[in-house]
Amino acid sequence: MGRDAGQGTSRTREADAGQTGRNIQARRLPQRRRSVPVQDSLGRGLVDLRISVTDRCNLRCPYCMPKELFGPDHAYLARSDLLSFEELARVARVFADLGVRKIRLTGGEPLLRRDLEHLVEKLASIDGIEDIAMTTNGMLLAAKARRLADAGLNRVTVSLDSLDDEVFAKMNGTGAAVARVLAGIDAAESSGLSPIKVNCVVKRNVNESSILEMARHFHGTGHILRFIEYMDVGTTNGWRLADVVPAGEILSLVDTELPLAPIDDEHRSGVATRYRYRDGGGEIGVIASVTSPFCATCTRARLSAEGMLFTCLFASDGFDLKTPVRSGATSRELERTILDIWARRADRYSEIRSACPAVIHGETTTGDSVSEHGRDVPCAGQAPPPTAVVLGHPRREMSYLGG
Ligand code: GTP
Ligand code: 5AD
Ligand code: SF4
Ligand code: SF4
Repeated sequence: MGRDAGQGTSRTREADAGQTGRNIQARRLPQRRRSVPVQDSLGRGLVDLRISVTDRCNLRCPYCMPKELFGPDHAYLARSDLLSFEELARVARVFADLGVRKIRLTGGEPLLRRDLEHLVEKLASIDGIEDIAMTTNGMLLAAKARRLADAGLNRVTVSLDSLDDEVFAKMNGTGAAVARVLAGIDAAESSGLSPIKVNCVVKRNVNESSILEMARHFHGTGHILRFIEYMDVGTTNGWRLADVVPAGEILSLVDTELPLAPIDDEHRSGVATRYRYRDGGGEIGVIASVTSPFCATCTRARLSAEGMLFTCLFASDGFDLKTPVRSGATSRELERTILDIWARRADRYSEIRSACPAVIHGETTTGDSVSEHGRDVPCAGQAPPPTAVVLGHPRREMSYLGG
């Protein structure tokens, strides 16, 4: 499918004005339109599909894949368990028929999946898919950007936690150099994979010192820097509330040197709260899932590389789509399965955790704990959240179910 920069569909232009921007291709709308919109039990639609194409990564960020636990003998998914590109495209087509318009490729590190551009090409030809993005650590991006863009990828989000090699090494768990990621960002820009977003996870006493430097560096470049609060995803990163730098603190710091104004995002469905530089130097954002959760507008489904469907980043259990795909289920049957799963969805983990994070993570002195599936969580001094169905079960790793 050829690229047609500047020809975004009107729907996408309205929904993502200034956010996903100019590089969105005009794509055909699905022939079969649903009369009843797909909604979960809390009235949230199904708009984004995030596909993890591998659970492997070439970095070892301690907040995601600490190297002590993800060593050479870690049991990754077997190749035969990964959905093939044909199978992934088939599932994506069913999601598109259900109304999904955005697909994000993630991992692990998606560029470790060989010939990823072949998958992009298949996804780009699906009726209804208007936006294909990828989240990458940038290590292999310089070599791949052009081929991905030619295949139909619209844009990339690149993870980069510092501009200082020493600090970056602490955040990525390897000796990976900042220059390599910056080269990836440059290649993505010259291949038209923009607007480029840069994700910076902030961890207390590790890379706080990089916040202003990152803001200065990306100010005026057209790239959108987003600071992410360190999250309690998975079970291996040893998350503590004390390691989270609240988004409010990050924004105040940036604002002292580069004054900010909020962007009115009336139809917000993304994860970031957006700000613009008052001097016209562009946009930044914060992803504050700890201090300001955004579950109420969460329209994201996640497909793991082995074909498990997850309805929340913090879920412990997924729903197997690989078995029906490999045993000859029709598209109609797959559609019904997904509809049923989505209709029952009630996930709002971040909201629940934000009501009482210390209790949930055992940092309280009250002796309260969360251990049983489906039980309400007793929160010292606060009203218990109405549901707590995902709490108390081991969460899946982000490298497995996709960031
Ligand atoms: P677009 O709107 O497609 O540009 O992407 P995005 O703004 O959703 O950004 P991206 O996909 O890069 O997500 C940024 C980061 O936010 C992820 O890497 C996660 O760390 C976090 N994140 C994404 N989705 C969720 C979610 O559903 N829940 C929580 N708690 N965090 C999320
Ligand atoms: N908290 C916040 N962000 C995280 N990411 C990975 N693990 C965490 C975590 N524990 C981010 C990465 C990348 C994206 C895939 O998710 O930095 O930008
Ligand atoms: Fe790899 Fe991204 Fe996880 Fe870091 S955050 S280990 S780059 S998947
Ligand atoms: Fe969505 Fe779950 Fe994240 Fe809430 S915690 S925004 S429901 S993925």
